[in-house]
Amino acid sequence: MKEQLEQLQVEALEEIKVASTQKALNDVRIKYLGKKGPMTEVLRGMGKLSAEERPVVGELANKVRASIQETLEARIEEVKAIELEAKLAAETIDVTLPGRTTFPGNSHLLQQIIDEMEDLFVGLGYTIAEGPEVETDLYNFEMLNLPKDHPARDMQDSFYITDETLLRTHTSPVQARTMLEANGQPIRIICPGKVYRRDEDDATHSHQFMQIEGLVVDESISMADLKGTLEVFVKQLFGESREIRLRPSFFPFTEPSVEVDISCFKCGGKGCNVCKGTGWIEILGGGMVHPHVLEMAGYDSTKMSGFAFGIGVERMAMLKHGVDDIRHFYTNDLRFIEQF
Ligand code: DAH
Repeated sequence: MKEQLEQLQVEALEEIKVASTQKALNDVRIKYLGKKGPMTEVLRGMGKLSAEERPVVGELANKVRASIQETLEARIEEVKAIELEAKLAAETIDVTLPGRTTFPGNSHLLQQIIDEMEDLFVGLGYTIAEGPEVETDLYNFEMLNLPKDHPARDMQDSFYITDETLLRTHTSPVQARTMLEANGQPIRIICPGKVYRRDEDDATHSHQFMQIEGLVVDESISMADLKGTLEVFVKQLFGESREIRLRPSFFPFTEPSVEVDISCFKCGGKGCNVCKGTGWIEILGGGMVHPHVLEMAGYDSTKMSGFAFGIGVERMAMLKHGVDDIRHFYTNDLRFIEQF
């Protein structure tokens, strides 16, 4: 029996040594120490031993059992560590690999200017109006005091679709549309949008560009309201220290008409290359809505008056950011677009 036990121990320890997973070790434990295993069998057979032999074999059996148990436990710890290491190695993230960059994008500079203008004017109680880019001769010209064959049409040669339909040459037709819809009621709108002209494209001209139109109609609106409003907008977009200057001008749909200059933001008015030495930069046209335009749209011009203005969005962007060619806005070169 002693030999049997010793043999058992040798076999068990050998099996424990070669087992390399927790599962295999558990199998070894069941095989040698389980209820149906050889140890149990040996212990059961002890009853047949003599009184002298029993304690000797008993002691040996306990030692063998303890040795198997201890070796097993030690090996389990070893295997656990090996398994953990293998798992970690398999799951390693190589942090030296460069990640994939996403490009979040941003709104186009022209859109940024429009957004800024909309925020400002909505804050002043205006609403945003829209009109069609394919417009009729009626709204684009006639309702704005530009009858057929009026010489001022020459400045805005357009792309005609039919004799009576064209791509709008300015956002001013939205004035006429809004006034007709308002049915004699007060109006306060701005209208940003695309306009088209049959121009040669060069550094300052494009066959397609953007404008923002403004229109206010109410009782006793005066030139002072126009000037005050423009001053607020100029200071917001070009800086608190900017001044404005109104010069007489001509538009068929306003009377009186003005062209508006701002004091040069580069030299502050001393004269430089941006303002061509004058200290002033022209930024928009405007005026008091012509009584005839009001009347055509159903307003009583003896009771109601209004002011209007039109701004070129590209021109504002070019002035504000020193962009030297209008074509940069449309060629979608990321090196340009991503600067703003
Ligand atoms: N529509 C004019 C243009 O494109 C700009 C303009 C001038 C608009 C005076 C106005 C205005 O509303 O009052 O040249």
